[in-house]
Amino acid sequence: MTAPNPFTPTFGKVPAVLAGRDLLLQEVETALRNGGGDPNLCSLFSGPRGVGKTVLLAYLAARSSEFGWVAANVTARPGMLEDIIERATDAADELVSSRVGARLTSLSIPALFGASWEYRDPEKGNWRTRMTRLLGTLENHGLGLLITIDEVDPSLEELIDFAATYQHFVRENRKVALFMAGLPANVSTLLSDKSASFLRRAAQHQLGRIDDYDVRIAFRETVEDAGKTIEDAALDRAVAATDGFAYMMQLVGFRTWAASGERACIVDEDASQGAARAREDFISGVVRKTCQDLSEGDLAFLEAMLPDVDEPSSMTDIAQRMGKTTNYARVYRSRLVEQGLITPAGRGYVRFDMPLICDYLLED
Ligand SMILES: Nc1ncnc2c1ncn2[C@@H]1O[C@H](COP(=O)(O)OP(=O)(O)OP(=O)(O)O)[C@@H](O)[C@H]1O
Ligand SMILES: [Mg+2]
Repeated sequence: MTAPNPFTPTFGKVPAVLAGRDLLLQEVETALRNGGGDPNLCSLFSGPRGVGKTVLLAYLAARSSEFGWVAANVTARPGMLEDIIERATDAADELVSSRVGARLTSLSIPALFGASWEYRDPEKGNWRTRMTRLLGTLENHGLGLLITIDEVDPSLEELIDFAATYQHFVRENRKVALFMAGLPANVSTLLSDKSASFLRRAAQHQLGRIDDYDVRIAFRETVEDAGKTIEDAALDRAVAATDGFAYMMQLVGFRTWAASGERACIVDEDASQGAARAREDFISGVVRKTCQDLSEGDLAFLEAMLPDVDEPSSMTDIAQRMGKTTNYARVYRSRLVEQGLITPAGRGYVRFDMPLICDYLLED
């Protein structure tokens, strides 16, 4: 019988092995361990689609309980504030009952948070009042509250209200932490909102490409932990096809593993088939959606890079091909760099940063 496929090409799914995030995790986990005034306790993660933002939030939230945090994980959408209270009380119950110990049956554990309408009932005070009470009760148990907010949406009023209230908790020295994640354009719009100005002091983490070296280690480990081996040539090919992109690594891995069938060793031919299939999945899952979000000017800029194929493009050429001034082109350059689609390549040059975006535009 063959072992189940260990790769996870599903959005939001924490992979068996997290590639290339060691330093970042260390930094943020240190903050969770130490608490207090560490700037990483208020962290903003941004990066393009499929780079691993949701996974990072989920991973950190799961780790945080070890350091005495209850995690409330929500998405920025209407109802978010109430959802924070619901998620926090549920998570607190779970953590407290697990600490009380397995020797007690769940029935004999006092329902501490979830059953108490003190926090959940809007009649018992406004959101800030109820949160303050909840934070106080958590503190009595030696616990802090970590709030994670995914898919930051700067047009959501509740998010702006949240930010305004959250800073009171910080000022009052409550044991709180906040991790938010979103697409770069959304995060930067949120930061420019004047009511959310305290967020500008948050630690900002841009998630981007993972080094080939790290992809290689994580790929091999994922395969071997699941009971197969992989030839060097196959590993080389898988790493090249991944091109530093988290979601791509899972797609290539998943397809390559499947291609190897019942065999215990993954060979080059499997990786070659896997890479070809993964390419199509990546284009339909990430590249197409990313391009749909772009403005006409953004697209015109990217198209002006196409004649250079795999070489970096000079800003002068790009502006000329767009029929615009270099200053005009520069505006789009910074937008696209921020979105993780292109990257500076020496003075006056840029190149594509997201895998396959060039191929997709060429095919279009
Ligand atoms: N560090 C990592 N190493 C390996 N695989 C990863 C890593 N981070 C994420 N992944 C994988 O990449 C895929 C995308 O991750 P995730 O859903 O977190 O992306 P995202 O940045 O939230 O995307 P979106 O902007 O579309 O919400 C998932 O299949 C996940 O398993
Ligand atoms: Mg996500």
